[in-house]
Amino acid sequence: MSKMTVTDLKELKGKVVFVRVDFNVPLKNGEITDDNRIVAALPTIDHLRKQGARVVLFSHLGKVDHKDPEKCAADKAKNDMKFVVGRLSELLHDEVVYVNETRGEVLNNAVKNLKDGQVLLMQNTRYEKGESKNDPELSAYWASLADAFVMDAFGSAHRAHSSTYGVPEILNANHKPTALGFLMQKEVEGLNRCVNISDKDRPFVAILGGAKVSDKILVVEKLIEKADKVLIGGAITCTFLKALNKPVGNSRYEADQLDFARKCVELAKAKNKLVLPIDHVIADDFAMPLDIKRTDGVDIQDGYERLDIGPKTVAYYEKILQNAKTVFWNGPMGVFENPLFEEGTKSICRILTKITAEKGAFTVIGGGDSAAAAAQMGFKEGFSHVSTGGGASLELIQNDGHLPGIDIIANK
Ligand code: 3PG
Repeated sequence: MSKMTVTDLKELKGKVVFVRVDFNVPLKNGEITDDNRIVAALPTIDHLRKQGARVVLFSHLGKVDHKDPEKCAADKAKNDMKFVVGRLSELLHDEVVYVNETRGEVLNNAVKNLKDGQVLLMQNTRYEKGESKNDPELSAYWASLADAFVMDAFGSAHRAHSSTYGVPEILNANHKPTALGFLMQKEVEGLNRCVNISDKDRPFVAILGGAKVSDKILVVEKLIEKADKVLIGGAITCTFLKALNKPVGNSRYEADQLDFARKCVELAKAKNKLVLPIDHVIADDFAMPLDIKRTDGVDIQDGYERLDIGPKTVAYYEKILQNAKTVFWNGPMGVFENPLFEEGTKSICRILTKITAEKGAFTVIGGGDSAAAAAQMGFKEGFSHVSTGGGASLELIQNDGHLPGIDIIANK
């Protein structure tokens, strides 16, 4: 990689290093339900501490609506970084200095008073209205406190915000070091194996599922261009089936994406790349299913909706995946949150972890719900790489390895 990395930063003793982490962790009533993103940032933090750096961590948490004052106050109460600091201290086995501010005297003094190797966490960056707008004044203020910047927030690297873009841009201009952290390096290396595919890493198979075609338009086009096969699952199946004039029963589909789905089918036709499910698990009602069955073929009868891929599709996809050398997977195959419709997603986990272990295939999960499903079902460790960023990994693939939060880091 030609970007500066955290191990390239020298003479850090006594230096204030701002580290953009992605502590956008899921919360339920103020309790963290999955601390994976905090754990993933620890190697970079530990390394900097050992070098004697004074580490300032900053991250967004959830979304804050700055247009409506009532909504803003409620969002701030819900997405308060104070919910994160306790777990961070536990994981670091040390007390973290917590600053309930994103600017001002209290923060300035706390940064000034940090000791070598100490860690400070500031309040949610999105408490600042200017954060998501990459406000130059905000970026200049944060940059003024830092001697160096490390980007380790892969999940946010597709956002050109103050904390991910504006701050390193200013530090670069002021000839201060900017670098990628260990998590970023791991993510970029893992995901780039699905961007620059050499012949020895083919067949390259992409598996796309999830709810909405509209979220995936650019990545679907890119993967049809790059992959040898693109296997479809999840609710997006019905938009493709509808585009091919197949009956989808009561299943939801995106009427405004039918032209795009037809275009994909057309694009993939010559090389027979796009593969659709050949059977489904269907039910009379998604919320209260009383009648659940498997279809014989692709057609879905009236009164039923598609909720998972069927066993024939699993067998068909398994056959294709047996030969794969590289696999990129984004989006569950069915409504895996309900055990009645988890089998398709579980089968994909089983097949992919098996070809990883037995055939040396390189298997990547592009974050989001499929990563959550793999973790929940106990398969996460069996993949070659599980990304911590859903949106970021899709954008990295569709932009051939480029993201604003990576591109802005200084080259070696
Ligand atoms: C994520 O959870 O995908 C990242 O933290 C980015 O969050 P955002 O979509 O709110 O920018």
